[in-house]
Amino acid sequence: MIYFTIPIVSIFRIMKEYALRQYSFAPRVQKWDTEHKPSKSGGIVVDVLSAIEKRREITQFRPDPLPQHVIDSLQRSLYLAPAGNNLKSREYIIVTERDKVTQLAPTSPYMNWLEQAAAAVVIIGSPQVSKYWLQDASIAGSFVWLTAVSLGLGAAWGAVYHSEDAEESARREYYAREQLNIPDDYRVVAIIGLGYPAAEPPAKKMYPMEEVMHQEVYGG
Ligand SMILES: Cc1cc2nc3c(=O)[nH]c(=O)nc-3n(C[C@H](O)[C@H](O)[C@H](O)COP(=O)(O)O)c2cc1C
Repeated sequence: MIYFTIPIVSIFRIMKEYALRQYSFAPRVQKWDTEHKPSKSGGIVVDVLSAIEKRREITQFRPDPLPQHVIDSLQRSLYLAPAGNNLKSREYIIVTERDKVTQLAPTSPYMNWLEQAAAAVVIIGSPQVSKYWLQDASIAGSFVWLTAVSLGLGAAWGAVYHSEDAEESARREYYAREQLNIPDDYRVVAIIGLGYPAAEPPAKKMYPMEEVMHQEVYGG
């Protein structure tokens, strides 16, 4: 028996290594455009880089509600997002009742799109739990945004916490807290509107990649 098991295990190992090499060595994106156009396919995207390429802020939504399996996947992506020291520094409120989603729109003047969105994810952070609460909350936001894209959804980011204007931040956060019974010791970082896209945005003008990408040293 041992004579058969060892070669079979080795063959599987070699096959796995070959598959991994194929994946990591084959560049999926050949060229970086300075014009960023959303893909026309609109379908389900499976790999992360394709989701990153396709992702745009979507602010017009169809009225269709999100199926439960879609909500489950969005929740899973939030739950699995990394946090500094693996601390529970951020929590999420998923809002799917249409009236409640609409009621969140006045949180800031820049999230009118919530009036149309099928759902909202409210990301709250806890400075008492971790000094990295803002980074942790932001990473979770990008996880759910990309997951939304991968599921054929559109998402828009509504900033709530405002680091430069304490008064405006307090006003926005107070409003969201009141709507959703969020305890005072949580900061309200963002509200992400979600839904099936009704319209794609026009192409986005990107600055040349070299302006933000340095090799080995700054300016290199
Ligand atoms: C930290 C952050 C805050 C943002 N705040 C808002 C906002 O309050 N309202 C809004 O409509 N869009 C907001 N956006 C979306 C950006 O304006 C948008 O992502 C940006 O213009 C780039 O466009 P794209 O997402 O289509 O690539 C925010 C995005 C980020 C990352």
